[in-house]
Amino acid sequence: MNADNLVGIAEIASLAGVTKQVVSNWRRRYDDFPKAIQNLESGPVWNKEVIDSWLRQRKGEGTHILSFINLKGGVGKTTTAVGVAEILAQEHKKRVLVIDLDPQTNATVTLIKEAKWEEMDKDGRTIAQLFLDKLSPHLPPKFDIEKAIARQVSTINDGIAKLDLLPSSIQLISIQDQVPTIALHNFGAERPIEILKNAIEPVLGAYDYIIIDCPPSLGVVTQNGLRISTGYIIPTIPDVLSTWGIYQIVENVERLAKASGISIPPLGIVATKVQGNNLHNRVIEDMRNRRLGNFARGPVEQPLLFKSSVSQAVDVARGADVDADKRTFKGKYGSKAYAELQGLTLEIVQVCEKKN
Ligand SMILES: Nc1ncnc2c1ncn2[C@@H]1O[C@H](COP(=O)(O)OP(=O)(O)OP(=O)(O)O)[C@@H](O)[C@H]1O
Ligand SMILES: [Mg+2]
Repeated sequence: MNADNLVGIAEIASLAGVTKQVVSNWRRRYDDFPKAIQNLESGPVWNKEVIDSWLRQRKGEGTHILSFINLKGGVGKTTTAVGVAEILAQEHKKRVLVIDLDPQTNATVTLIKEAKWEEMDKDGRTIAQLFLDKLSPHLPPKFDIEKAIARQVSTINDGIAKLDLLPSSIQLISIQDQVPTIALHNFGAERPIEILKNAIEPVLGAYDYIIIDCPPSLGVVTQNGLRISTGYIIPTIPDVLSTWGIYQIVENVERLAKASGISIPPLGIVATKVQGNNLHNRVIEDMRNRRLGNFARGPVEQPLLFKSSVSQAVDVARGADVDADKRTFKGKYGSKAYAELQGLTLEIVQVCEKKN
């Protein structure tokens, strides 16, 4: 451990321009205040990079990087992630990048036309190429972050000015199992879970929000997304099977954060495809009271439930249809789900930007 990277309470106070008492208050008040990495005789110490990043987030500065994650498939991760990204860019005027980490390429094909994706995939302008380069270190790298980002994407308004996409590729399926071995290919120079982090750094400053659509797994590709995340959101259908893995997600993300010396707090759970039947109502009630399943018994605290939820609506399912008029939010999501997604986006902005 490098002592230059360590800071104590007094140094944090001076970095933030506040008193030590204020720092102590933050520690008590904010669940996401980074955990001390060691308790020395002189007091607790933190990793400076982690503290710098937390302080930037607190001021609403820096890029908010949010992973949408659930181990269960088909729960509305992609729909929610894309809808929130579109509303952030179009209505909140934020500069937004969507990163599609799922080889199913659902977010990609909702945001760009298939012909464009095919052309980008052929030219190695997808996230898959980034990992492919690392698996073939003897070849000159092909991935170029600037070229891989598609600009002004979405069907809304035939493209939203502030919305960009780093596309995925079905090629990711065949390489994702090999990604953990990357350290062997390059003699351990680059950690397999930091490939995306290193690639994305040059463009970070260009975005207010990065929204990451994760595949339904906690594999190494998802871990690459979590490694750069300042928080994560768990979309779930409010039923027993869909919420089953949430405890496991929270536990595993905490472990990953700790191992990397960073903080990746859960921002909240979003109930999706809500049908208002007895089961859905009961599970929502449990989540609202933070006593969902194992959380009621285990040591891990349940993330908050967002007040906004997204109802099961035929318009949302139709939005993925080629014939729907997807150039307006109402056409793409239907009035009801559009209003719900707006509510959710507002809550996310409030959590990310107003921490006083
Ligand atoms: N609120 C909703 N109402 C009706 N249908 C929905 C809603 N949200 C999502 N869907 C539909 O449910 C299906 C799964 O949604 P989506 O692809 O967003 O889930 P996912 O969690 O990303 O799935 P995967 O795990 O496969 O990535 C899609 O066909 C989508 O159109
Ligand atoms: Mg998906």
